[in-house]
Amino acid sequence: MTAVPDPLLKDALAAIARDVDTMFDALLPGEGQLGEAMRYAAIGGGKRLRPLLLTATAALHGADRSQALRAAIAIESIHAYSLAHDDLPCMDDDAMRHGKPSLHKAFGEAVAVLAGDALQSFAFEVLTDPATSGDPFVRSELVRVLAMASGAAGMVGGQMLDIAGEGQALGLPEITRMQQLKTGALLSAAVEMGAVLGKLPPEGRTHLKGYARDIGLAFQIADDLLDHTGDEAKAGKALRKDAEAGKQTFVAVLGEDRAREQARMLVDQAIAHLGSYGQEADLLRALARYIVERDH
Ligand code: IPE
Ligand code: IPE
Ligand code: MG
Ligand code: MG
Ligand code: MG
Repeated sequence: MTAVPDPLLKDALAAIARDVDTMFDALLPGEGQLGEAMRYAAIGGGKRLRPLLLTATAALHGADRSQALRAAIAIESIHAYSLAHDDLPCMDDDAMRHGKPSLHKAFGEAVAVLAGDALQSFAFEVLTDPATSGDPFVRSELVRVLAMASGAAGMVGGQMLDIAGEGQALGLPEITRMQQLKTGALLSAAVEMGAVLGKLPPEGRTHLKGYARDIGLAFQIADDLLDHTGDEAKAGKALRKDAEAGKQTFVAVLGEDRAREQARMLVDQAIAHLGSYGQEADLLRALARYIVERDH
């Protein structure tokens, strides 16, 4: 595994981390325990892969960066809420996230639930603001894409399958579906929202959708491999918990080597979907490679 991403990606990761933090700081409520908890969950942690996917896809199609950044913090806000709830004692019961105590450890369970709920509403508040796009059709499409990817047909549906599947022996098709929903849906939404901002018509999005689908699956395999073999200090969260919790993962079914091979194959396939783009899509290519090579 290489930990250092290529220079193009390294700069882009640093820039998006800075811009996302700045925008969260400007837009999130600042007062009271709820505001503090929302900020604790959203600011200063995470790789910001969804914002980078969104802004890179938007840039590829000529969209304005400051508008794309607003859409990016909307999706990252959903992601932050999903992690806060994922860590709760009734879910994965995790005490660490982003190298610090998880939200419920720092603020208590009730505040963690409420801050997660409020982060979800915040996402849609940001998207529906005319500052995100002057075009009401674009705003409405952004809302729809994010809502579909977050709810029962997306992330929450996948989390349900993850919890229901604990201790069961699922086959590869069921695990693939669970992973596509719990993780793939939001990653795909990031790409699609970038395409929406770039006013790419639905029929022009096929290659990007193929790319997103493949990296989404590769991403969750990489997360499961990290749980199996990674370094907790680098990951900033407790590892080696999936097997004990009876989580159904590619690693559980295929074993480490074949899971790794599968992730690499998916990345090659993702990059092949970008064949109709030139150098301007190099960032998306580098991001696909980083998804399986990352160490956190
Ligand atoms: C972790 O996602 C949770 C999964 C969906 C597997 P990330 O690895 O993107 O989380 P951060 O925000 O970078 O920590
Ligand atoms: C979480 O998957 C996916 C979400 C939708 C939040 P995991 O439970 O594997 O994520 P980590 O390993 O806790 O980050
Ligand atoms: Mg989980
Ligand atoms: Mg978890
Ligand atoms: Mg995990």
